[in-house]
Amino acid sequence: MGLEKLLDAIAEQGWYVWDDFLTPDQVSRLRSCAPESWQQARIGRQDEAQRISQIRSDKIQWLRESMGQPIQDYLERMEQIRQQVNQDFFLGLFEYEAHFAKYEAGDFYKKHLDAFRGNENRKLTTVFYMNPNWCAADGGELKLYDLNDQLIETIAPISGRLVVFLSEKFPHEVLPTQAERISIAGWFRTNGVTENRLDIAR
Ligand code: OGA
Ligand code: MN
Repeated sequence: MGLEKLLDAIAEQGWYVWDDFLTPDQVSRLRSCAPESWQQARIGRQDEAQRISQIRSDKIQWLRESMGQPIQDYLERMEQIRQQVNQDFFLGLFEYEAHFAKYEAGDFYKKHLDAFRGNENRKLTTVFYMNPNWCAADGGELKLYDLNDQLIETIAPISGRLVVFLSEKFPHEVLPTQAERISIAGWFRTNGVTENRLDIAR
């Protein structure tokens, strides 16, 4: 049901907000897999990794299956989305990478595009929120823009909500949060790096 709506919305407008993607129980189990230790988020490729605190101030930890069954279940849901999107749109989505993100009071992420970072070939962005009792005063909204910088939607990071959008088409920002804000951001990628290697080998 939700998956069909997602596919329709991606085809029609390129983005979708899927409320109650997980039940409150599933959300709390997933949230309990969040790590104890976090890394300062970085911008750009690993080899030029640098902290750019003027652009983003959240902390992250990459998802690994060893973090627990709820993580494996979440990745399984993403795999279902990947297969269905590939079947419908021939996007050739290959791999999914995702990290937990923690924004503490005052943290933000200025307007950016997720694609075009090095050779990552990010095609489809997912953001899942795990913040029970979120209220308007907590801020931390995701603002989605089109490529002409027109505001499309302001999305609160409420628990159980999954946001999906085409990575190359929607600049977005996270407004400063007033309360701790926990999420999983993820990206489906095409396999451009390997294609390049094949090109060289030919
Ligand atoms: C990101 C991002 C949005 C959000 O991590 O690239 O834009 O709402 N996150 O957390
Ligand atoms: Mn982003």
